Amino acid sequence: MTAVVYSEYGGPEVLRLDEVERPTSDDDEVLVQVMARSVNAGDWHLLRGTPFLVRLVYGGYRRPRFPILGVDIAGRVEAVGKNVVDFRPGDEVIADLSKSGFGGFAEYVRVPVTAVVRKPATVSFEAAAAAPTAGVAALQALRDAGKLQAGETVLINGASGGVGTFAVQIAKFLGAAVTAVCSTEKMDTVRSIGADHVIDYRKEDFTESGTQYDLILDAAGSHSMRDYARALRPSGRYVFVGGPTRRFVTTLLAGPVLSMTGRTQFQTFMLNPDRDDLEFVIGLMESGDVEPVIDRRYRLDETPAALQYLEAGRATGKVVVL
Ligand SMILES: NC(=O)c1ccc[n+]([C@@H]2O[C@H](COP(=O)([O-])OP(=O)(O)OC[C@H]3O[C@@H](n4cnc5c(N)ncnc54)[C@H](OP(=O)(O)O)[C@@H]3O)[C@@H](O)[C@H]2O)c1
Repeated sequence: MTAVVYSEYGGPEVLRLDEVERPTSDDDEVLVQVMARSVNAGDWHLLRGTPFLVRLVYGGYRRPRFPILGVDIAGRVEAVGKNVVDFRPGDEVIADLSKSGFGGFAEYVRVPVTAVVRKPATVSFEAAAAAPTAGVAALQALRDAGKLQAGETVLINGASGGVGTFAVQIAKFLGAAVTAVCSTEKMDTVRSIGADHVIDYRKEDFTESGTQYDLILDAAGSHSMRDYARALRPSGRYVFVGGPTRRFVTTLLAGPVLSMTGRTQFQTFMLNPDRDDLEFVIGLMESGDVEPVIDRRYRLDETPAALQYLEAGRATGKVVVL
């Protein structure tokens, strides 16, 4: 089968298209013909091996441990292991491969049955592939980490990205009033997916406006914790989803201390891949409450360009590889 492989850390140039042996499924796995994948920041972190922590978490101190990247996939079951009873060849499915050695940038991948979710016929492969990381991260960050309640106000920083575009729609579904922060060109898109207020960060600094929110979901990491604290109600919550490494480290170390000494809660969010949560997000897509924003589509042989585009940090919603 054709796959995009790499054997050393580096930029998109270390990726190459290769013919490799097609995997076979073990007893508790399904073999999936991949019809669509979406690209995530995690893919290029693993491609570059930076920050160094990713090498420790996933193994591969000097060289990548897993030769084929790609976490989010949607496809068709090709074969099932002998213990698999819930799926059969031809079923359309979705999976998060982050706990099973990645491998999405290939024609076929084997997936533990515990990670497989059924794809509704009304949800396209590309829309389905957009959901596992960004959709589930948005859901868990708002609902679990952020404890967002109906009627509350939430500000989503980085609202035009993969996580942000899901977060705007899921926060609306949860009954919140949503303020979205993005760049000028993306304001219309963010408005079109339901944001009640949109702030252009090039023209206005939301931490200086005097408006305070119950929750800030931060998928950009553009400000200091002191700045965010100003934009939170006295008992507000701040959830760091992503941004520069220094912001991640500061929130991780200082967040718990600040949360103990004041009423404002600062948290660093970590996605916990979960089949029920993926099913929930897919259900929202099936009902029309959430519609993934797809920015660009690439072919499998264009995966390096897809990663490069995402890494540049200017994608609107998700980038998919078909
Ligand atoms: N913690 C976890 O488990 C987890 C899970 C998934 C993702 N993440 C992290 O979350 C972050 C976002 O992921 P993503 O997939 O949404 O990335 P993405 O698609 O690249 O989106 C990032 C967005 O940030 C916006 N942005 C850049 N500078 C900004 C600023 N100063 N103010 C407001 N927005 C700004 C960009 O939009 P503009 O062009 O409008 O500036 C871009 O759309 C990444 O750091 C990723 O690693 C973490």
